[in-house]
Order: sequence, then C-alpha cells, then structure tokens
Amino acid sequence: MFALPSLPYRYDGLAPVISERSLRLHYDTHHGGCLEALNALLAAPGRSPRELEEVIAEASQAGERQLLNCAAQVWNHSFFWAAMSTRARSPKGALAGLKSAFVSEGTAHFGPGWIWLAANEIGCLRVVVTRDGDDTLREAGFVPLLACDLWEHAYYLDHEHDRRAFLDAWFDALPNWDFAARQYATACGRGEPWRHPAPVDDVTKAKVA
Ligand SMILES: [Fe+2]
Repeated sequence: MFALPSLPYRYDGLAPVISERSLRLHYDTHHGGCLEALNALLAAPGRSPRELEEVIAEASQAGERQLLNCAAQVWNHSFFWAAMSTRARSPKGALAGLKSAFVSEGTAHFGPGWIWLAANEIGCLRVVVTRDGDDTLREAGFVPLLACDLWEHAYYLDHEHDRRAFLDAWFDALPNWDFAARQYATACGRGEPWRHPAPVDDVTKAKVA
C-alpha cells in the first residue's frame, strides 16, 4: 500500500498562489482520494507490493486504464508537492526563458492535465503537456524537472477560471529550482531521478518523508 508523502511545507506555506484551503482540499481530498482508490485496486488478490513506477509501467503495458489513472495521478501529485518550495528563487539562464512557453502551453491546453518542464538525456529542455492523469514516465528519454497541475481543482478556489494567472504566479513563486537542478543533473547521467516513496506495510503507521 502507498501512503501520502508528508508535505515539505505547511498548509499555508504556498499562499497566496495556493491558499491553505486549496492545498488542504487538493492534498487531503484529491490526492488522498486517488491514493485510497489505488490502494483498493492493489489490494486485489494476486497483486504483489512493488514500486509505484513499476505499477505504472505494468498497468500501461497491460492496458489497465483504471489502475493506470490512479497510479499516475498519485505519482504526479507526489512529484508536484516535492517540486515546490516556499523559498521563492528565480530560475536562471535557459530555465528562465521557458516561462513564457510553460504559461502559454499550460493555458492553451484543453481540459485537465499536467504541464511539465522536462529534459532529455543530452540536457535539452522541453515543455511537455500531458492529458488527464498521464505523466512523463512514458515519454521516452525525458526526465521531469517540474510539474504543475492543470486540473481545475488545483487553482479554481484561488484563481477561479484564470489558469493563466495561476501558472504565471506559480512559475514566479513556487518551483523548487534546487529540486529541478537535481533532476536535470540526472537527465545528464549524474545521480538517480526522483522516485515515489516506496509502498508501506501499514498506511496508518506510515510517515513517509
Ligand atoms: Fe490535482
């Protein structure tokens, strides 16, 4: 079973871009709900405990859409929390130049999904948009550096329908650029990329760092 990873900041730490109320609903209700659904599916007879990345790869290969949706949404949200910081710092160089593509592609995307800053194995940066609960794990050769949630539940309470305003404010205030730099290094062959916290035996006792 998988547990909700602890947030690396307080519930009010991302305000005003993401308010305390919005973060509580998003983390506790949306992410928590996906996690419950995932754990229920994984509790079926014959399923053995394994890393979430393996669950996603196997569900994708087997065409198990329901399991894939739950697993990828859990992975995406855990990555999203890890890739934000309360210590706002400006990106430098090539990363700073990606803001306009990030905001405009995220705004233009029709319906729910995710927007990613990703790098390939030779360090080429790219803005990638995925639909619904899809992720970049199955985008061959790309390592995600940052992600932002494009589902309305991510921004509607604080920015109403204005996804552009959310993305614009988010890019300036909340990306964890140290995290992005570590992910970027792994894309160039230095170190291992972020992985989802491993499954636990007992969710009620789990406090995953
Ligand atoms: Fe979300």
